Amino acid sequence: MTGSAGETEGTLDLRALRKSFGGIDVLKGVSISAGHGEFISLVGPSGCGKTTTLNIIAGFERPDQGDVLLGGRSILDTPSYRRELGMVFQSHALFPHMTVFDNVGFGLAMRRTAKAEIVRRVGAALEMVHLTGFEKRYPRELSGGQQQRVGIARALTVEPRVILMDEPLSSLDAKLRREMQVELRRIQQAVGITAIYVTHDQEEALTLSDRIVLMNKGAIEQAGRPEDIYSKPASEFVAAFIGEASFFDGTMVETAAGRARIRLDDGARVEAAAQPAFAPGRALRLAVRPDRVRLQRRTGETPEGLAGTVAARAFVGPFVRHVVALADGRELQVQTPASADDLPSEGDLVVAAIKPEDWLVFDAARGAA
Ligand SMILES: Nc1ncnc2c1ncn2[C@@H]1O[C@H](COP(=O)(O)OP(=O)(O)OP(=O)(O)O)[C@@H](O)[C@H]1O
Ligand SMILES: [Mg+2]
Repeated sequence: MTGSAGETEGTLDLRALRKSFGGIDVLKGVSISAGHGEFISLVGPSGCGKTTTLNIIAGFERPDQGDVLLGGRSILDTPSYRRELGMVFQSHALFPHMTVFDNVGFGLAMRRTAKAEIVRRVGAALEMVHLTGFEKRYPRELSGGQQQRVGIARALTVEPRVILMDEPLSSLDAKLRREMQVELRRIQQAVGITAIYVTHDQEEALTLSDRIVLMNKGAIEQAGRPEDIYSKPASEFVAAFIGEASFFDGTMVETAAGRARIRLDDGARVEAAAQPAFAPGRALRLAVRPDRVRLQRRTGETPEGLAGTVAARAFVGPFVRHVVALADGRELQVQTPASADDLPSEGDLVVAAIKPEDWLVFDAARGAA
């Protein structure tokens, strides 16, 4: 929308936020810096403190320690309604007895904005969410996705500096949800607004975000660009939470020529890119993404790799998924483009080849790389 200020007005800094409820530490020092116009997703298991973090930004809760800065200035003593934030929460349903126009203009009417200005801003917000012409409808006359877009328009009309969203798409079915993800990202970029987005859904976070902040038990496990979090998870927890992976236990044997030789607990030997910190004898946890595994049929002589049998094969649109049962009964998840030649079938004997650089290696004791 219009918004007169410069490139810093939408910066949001959370500094070492701590919060406990009834003696339980729910946030243990959470620091996040969002740049103006940045889209940041907060993800993590249920109860890790995502909503509490948003509530502190919104002013519904006060942190026990730490600070919240908007455009470089602390807003802790600013009441919620004066923080210039837009909010789209799953539970903030539309007012059923009000038209789309009145729902979207609600925040402006509350601020006693002049009627002509309300008409102008509601019109602009509805245009932004592609709902021009829906002004006179009631929420019950809209689809789920249209209702969500009215909710977003309502949050935008007050021209907030930051928009906070707490699982705004969780009530939608998979297809509508994907459409709305694209819409949300389009609107956020068109408006150029800073967004803090809470979701359980790691795939949604990967698709939407400039940066992902993965929380675990009130602390940040890792923060970074989606591709970095996916390809360089800092811990076993991150590897398991963001994207899929198959996990193995193993022991460090030796390092030579930049390669670490590792013996898996079932006896198989694999090579990974060397990690200088790991000494021989160290217990390791290994992980590999399904798209980093290449399957070959096993013929006469056994090529290098993990030997197994295809236990299941499923066609998933552009991909084929294989579940391979390895010698010790462990399962390896594999994803191959459906266009690949000669894909093995159920019951086939196969060998899984994994490049050294595609193994994610963690210290078993610490769970971290
Ligand atoms: N007002 C409160 N009083 C007491 N405990 C609370 C309060 N609000 C949150 N909690 C507790 O704080 C922890 C974090 O809650 P929070 O709602 O932030 O989690 P979340 O990450 O949003 O989880 P979910 O994904 O389930 O929404 C939980 O253990 C919750 O029970
Ligand atoms: Mg929550």
